[in-house]
Amino acid sequence: MSFPKDFLWGGSISAAQIEGAWNEGGKSPVSVDYCTAGSTTGRREIWYLDQNGQKAHKMWEPVDELPEGCQYQLFDDLHYTNHVASDFYHHYQEDLALMHEMGYTTFNTSISWARIMPYGIKGGVNQEGVEFYRHVFTLAREYGMDPVITLYKYDEPVSLNEQHGGWRNRAMIDEFVEFARVCFTEYKDLVNKWMTFNEINIIMPQTDTPLETAKRNIIYLHNQLVAAAKATIVAHEIDANLKVGAMICGNMNYPLTPDPLDALATYERFQDFFGYSADTQMRGYYPPYAKRIWAQYGKPEITQEDKDILMKGKSDFLGFSYYASGIVTTHEIESDDTTGGNVLGTIKNPYLERNEWGWQIDPVGFKHFLHIINDRYNAPLFDVENGIGLIETEDEDGVCHDPARIAYHKAHIQCMKEAVEEGVNLFGYTTWGCIDLVSAGTGQMDKKYGFVYVDMDDQGNGDLHRSRKDSFYWYQKVIKSNGEDLD
Ligand code: BG6
Repeated sequence: MSFPKDFLWGGSISAAQIEGAWNEGGKSPVSVDYCTAGSTTGRREIWYLDQNGQKAHKMWEPVDELPEGCQYQLFDDLHYTNHVASDFYHHYQEDLALMHEMGYTTFNTSISWARIMPYGIKGGVNQEGVEFYRHVFTLAREYGMDPVITLYKYDEPVSLNEQHGGWRNRAMIDEFVEFARVCFTEYKDLVNKWMTFNEINIIMPQTDTPLETAKRNIIYLHNQLVAAAKATIVAHEIDANLKVGAMICGNMNYPLTPDPLDALATYERFQDFFGYSADTQMRGYYPPYAKRIWAQYGKPEITQEDKDILMKGKSDFLGFSYYASGIVTTHEIESDDTTGGNVLGTIKNPYLERNEWGWQIDPVGFKHFLHIINDRYNAPLFDVENGIGLIETEDEDGVCHDPARIAYHKAHIQCMKEAVEEGVNLFGYTTWGCIDLVSAGTGQMDKKYGFVYVDMDDQGNGDLHRSRKDSFYWYQKVIKSNGEDLD
């Protein structure tokens, strides 16, 4: 057997992207509740009232804040995909039964902060929200799953932005830690594996980030890193057996040319985007090369207390996502040579195929990436997100046939298997969006990731019925054989 016999197999979803019920059960609004769907080329947008009371919109960001003096507002003529999403809130029993049928031994979702503490510390705990997740986790346990639960996935209640001005304010650290404390206390007997911030590095400045935003994000990220470490300390105080992981968005890039400057830029991209956050969370302190980053964007205020917290609140394991690879260069390129990517657009790689959003499919890059992080951190690893977005519907026979998804996962699991055989310390794999849900980047329901089809499109057409895609049966076989049978 290539995979250890207790290797965790499952799927991953997230509260804001799947639950819907945006204003039910005592939940308060989150920023994506004000977003509309983009397209294969356009990211999702948030709509609001500007300083003059006029309808306005801008690209949504993972730490979304409205410009000064603007107000959150819903408009009757817009369709908000997150309001209903896949309606997991009302379908969770059916959805967990389908996961069980596939043989899942784990599943990953996030807890909506806005369901648990809709107005932050000031408003107290919303018991209805607490009970909702208790039902979900209890059922998952009954089905024999060992859930891995994320606390934060870009969905703080907007009321906290209004109260504190968002993540620039250290008050958000206390808010988050209190929310985390409630979750650990309530669910410690049901959930043993936690992750603090989903893809905490997603707000790390990129080459095209405006300088003011980059400077701001370095401060936000510092506050989030401290909040994550503090929550980790709290979890260990509540129950020393709880395992709390980091969750970092994967990064695999190649230099465009053999120019040493391209090779250096590629390595620096890894340091900036992946290492800066992962090193800090896994080692308990900022890496030495942070100096180079701070010289560019400014150094956040780091108190002695922050340093102590970062060290004491190191992560127990490294969770990560991996979707696609990119290319880095210091040379001029033509716009025709560029393509899409998870966070940042990149350069086309002639050796790879792409999906409709331009993400480059690279299973060998996955194996390479697994080795890099295994060598670098020498810690237990968990791949909590890996998948491909495709436009799909059910065929006349009522089944969604998805050979491209099967091919994607087959190739990635094969490479993951080789990496494990070669010594990579990976203990689990959950495919992203195992039940169709709203895309985080584009807000689309048309961008499907699931093994389970959900009948809903970008305009709100669909009755939300679920059906098993071909990949459902394929993954069932993979799990049953513990990754041996990939055909
Ligand atoms: C990951 C996020 O980066 O990418 C998920 O954690 C997201 O929330 C996934 O859905 C895929 O991206 P997208 O934009 O296709 O939804």
